Amino acid sequence: MFVMGFVCGQSVYEKSLQSRKRFLPKSNSFYGKNNYFGKVFKTSAFKSPKKSLAVFAVQTRQVDNLGDTFSQKNANQANLTQVPDVNGHFGRYGGQYVPETLFFCLENLAKCFEETRNDAKFREELNLLLKDFVGRPSPLYFAERLSSRYARKDGSGPRIYLKREDLNHTGAHKINNSLAQCLLARKLGKKRIIAETGAGQHGVATATVCARFGLKCVVYMGAKDMKRQSLNVFRMRLLGAEVREVTAGTGTLTNALSEAIRDWVTYPEETHYIVGSVSGPHPYPLIVREFQSIIGKETKQQAKEKWGSSPDILLACVGGGSNAMGLFHDFVDDPNVRLIGVEAAGEGLESQKHAATLTCGQLGVLHGAMSYVIQDEDGQIKEVHSISAGLDYPGVGPEHAYLKDTRRAEYVAVTDKEAIQGFKLLSRMEGIIPALETAHAVAYLDKLCPTLSGNPNIVVCCSGRGDKDVHTVMEYLKEYGDNDIHLDDL
Ligand SMILES: Cc1ncc(COP(=O)(O)O)c(C=O)c1O
Repeated sequence: MFVMGFVCGQSVYEKSLQSRKRFLPKSNSFYGKNNYFGKVFKTSAFKSPKKSLAVFAVQTRQVDNLGDTFSQKNANQANLTQVPDVNGHFGRYGGQYVPETLFFCLENLAKCFEETRNDAKFREELNLLLKDFVGRPSPLYFAERLSSRYARKDGSGPRIYLKREDLNHTGAHKINNSLAQCLLARKLGKKRIIAETGAGQHGVATATVCARFGLKCVVYMGAKDMKRQSLNVFRMRLLGAEVREVTAGTGTLTNALSEAIRDWVTYPEETHYIVGSVSGPHPYPLIVREFQSIIGKETKQQAKEKWGSSPDILLACVGGGSNAMGLFHDFVDDPNVRLIGVEAAGEGLESQKHAATLTCGQLGVLHGAMSYVIQDEDGQIKEVHSISAGLDYPGVGPEHAYLKDTRRAEYVAVTDKEAIQGFKLLSRMEGIIPALETAHAVAYLDKLCPTLSGNPNIVVCCSGRGDKDVHTVMEYLKEYGDNDIHLDDL
């Protein structure tokens, strides 16, 4: 049997025994009962680690209801700005649940990142490329007609701004991270880049920067995603990347991620793995947050210029969580700014066909970090669903899990049907066709705005443009009928 994601004869364990004891769930072994692909094997990671199979993509059995265990007292004591700690923990989330082979790579990467992040030469090169290659800063655009949809009779109401990451080169926020990680890879002397992709935007961004720097690029993508994002597959190939189809499991992002990790375990010396979201083992959640935090930094500055203070509400879709974390990060320490992440409720939370990890998931380990995971009572990853390939993932970045438990951020979910309405809404009201991922955040405005008083300034992260999704939306409307949105008031 093809046993992807684990390597015989190596142990998987968290970096330090102490932190392992502190953060492991009480009622289950570290590994869970089954491996990621359903082959049953019993493990006792701590008694005989050398005998165990090294599984990167592991998950623990569901252990508790996190909302109950993390009290308001914990929330008040939480240190929101000093995370992660040196071992990559956000409270009990994060860490490094990886095979030994990768420790060396992760340590090198963490060291290189620490040396580089404030290095003036690195910053200068990165900033120049962000400006001239990516096209930053991205505008903070006042969505006047969209705002008028939510205006009260007296003309007051929320003022909605879009942070236009869709205007970046390659059409999404993903390039901020791919570009900066490519510079890190060059510093590490790596000549081969691998990446995973769901919607294809991270794959396209990575293929683009690899073309720019003359690096070999391999992108793993689920078979289902390759079909629904065929335009992006073609773009990656045009850019010179090899796109490897992953047929395992559901053929979506989670399988692509597992396959990319397997590649990395096999070729750790020459390869740098550009993880595309604030997920994965430490230091990835930290690195990706840092490189995406330009979204929030620019927003802060632009908000000051436009209305003289910070936004009142930040709204972003959450797959792995990178565009949301990028927007939120610079505002986490400001309690006056409300942070809202929007997950995919797919066909409805009760249908089980959704990808609302923070809303419905439980404590678990997936792809090298502890976080919320959508799993069954045996700790097996459940099949998830979203119309949007970039949100179709059963895990989420550990910092979002921490922000949820500490109640610093709110997480809500929007269905496929509502997202389609959001997609049409932004297209018709503002002349901006958003990515289906972004459309989830837009759709939530219909629920949020009627609950608000005064004239709050809301910033929605327009994480990407929708060209890649037009075909999916056409198919959806053909199948379910075109229930048009109500624009009567305008
Ligand atoms: C345009 C766009 N927005 C959002 C996402 C979700 O990813 P993340 O939550 O890491 O921002 C994706 C993922 O592919 C994407 O392409």
